[in-house]
Amino acid sequence: MEPIISEFDKTIGITGGAGFIGSHVVRLFVKKYPQYRIVNIDALTYAGNLENTKDIESYPNYIFERADICDEEKINGLFTRYGFNAIIHLAAESHVDRSIMDPLAFVKTNVLGTGILLNACRRHWQPDVANKLFYHVSTDEVYGSLGTTGFFTEETPYDPRSPYSASKASSDHLVMAYHHTYRLPVVMSNCSNNYGSHHFPEKLIPLMINNIINRKPLPVYGKGENVRDWLWVEDHAIAIDTIFHKGKVGEKYNVGGFNEWKNIDLVYLLCRIMDQKLNRTVGESEKLITFVKDRAGHDLRYAIDATKINQILGWKPSLQFEEGLAKTVDWYLENQEWVNHVTSGQYQQYYTEQYNKR
Ligand code: NAD
Ligand code: TYD
Repeated sequence: MEPIISEFDKTIGITGGAGFIGSHVVRLFVKKYPQYRIVNIDALTYAGNLENTKDIESYPNYIFERADICDEEKINGLFTRYGFNAIIHLAAESHVDRSIMDPLAFVKTNVLGTGILLNACRRHWQPDVANKLFYHVSTDEVYGSLGTTGFFTEETPYDPRSPYSASKASSDHLVMAYHHTYRLPVVMSNCSNNYGSHHFPEKLIPLMINNIINRKPLPVYGKGENVRDWLWVEDHAIAIDTIFHKGKVGEKYNVGGFNEWKNIDLVYLLCRIMDQKLNRTVGESEKLITFVKDRAGHDLRYAIDATKINQILGWKPSLQFEEGLAKTVDWYLENQEWVNHVTSGQYQQYYTEQYNKR
């Protein structure tokens, strides 16, 4: 393959750009930085969907490459072809319940896949790593589970408890090991739960929205007492942009919404918002709430202390939760075709396996 001579300032490979968060990051970078060439590298698993990036498909600085990050030859070929100046790495298996069903798929993509990308950076960037950057997008779940008080800071020791979080923690360690051992310029962020448009309806918020629309049971695990810190996905994309441009090499930044909700309270809020939007009687959707068997090893609480990124880089969330949730519901109501496409086939099979046993 001949290398492409680029007229752009830099070429950034974004992995997982057809997924939920990745598509928002790709969209932000393509639109905000016409001087950057953005190569979206995605295997298009069940979670990846080119409909997520349809609006930027025709931009001259955007390219899509279908590739599995575990395919070493293919990844090295892309490095040769595009001469990446930076990688923003989001590709991952991302759903805890699926990691309980099939842990090795998570070890493969999240650990081996990240290792293959890091190795490609090392091979193609050394000896001159100046002005190169490997940005690793990770999760707050690597820190484990909190009790009813306290927050995760950047210094909190890792204590992952699900196959998903253990695989992400392993990838975080690999990234830092490549920095220390090979001087690879890296930066990392660990973010709390995201919500917003294009979110695959296997995760709590889009699953509940979809089930409320279709008057299906709302499966709340255990007693619904578990707490998550929710962040508007577009605010996460802005945080990634900020850290990419202003973050210090070798450092990590926690990103969070300062917005903790018990699952059951969040589901009640969603029901209220949706009764109103769907012109249903107040209280109608709440009747769909069904308490089901708890998730194995269910982490009680995640809460991020995002002081570092706020004080050093000046980032903070832009949107109030109620406003973001209402916008998210509107997007799902206006994009039922998207939901129909992603919930056909494999999704139906997953849904039956996951919820029929509970
Ligand atoms: P997602 O599941 O919606 O998307 C993952 C994307 O990666 C999909 O497009 C999929 O096709 C692609 N992918 C999966 N395996 C691949 C492989 N082997 N090769 C190439 N592409 C592959 O995930 P998301 O929720 O957008 O999460 C993106 C990243 O952000 C992940 O690394 C995740 O750990 C992290 N994160 C997510 C959240 C959250 O709330 N969703 C919070 C913090 C961090
Ligand atoms: P999820 O969206 O899967 O994110 P994570 O587990 O990575 O935080 O789940 C968010 C919370 O919602 C978590 O405590 C599990 C709970 N949950 C339910 O109660 N019912 C469901 O059907 C799902 C998918 C999640």
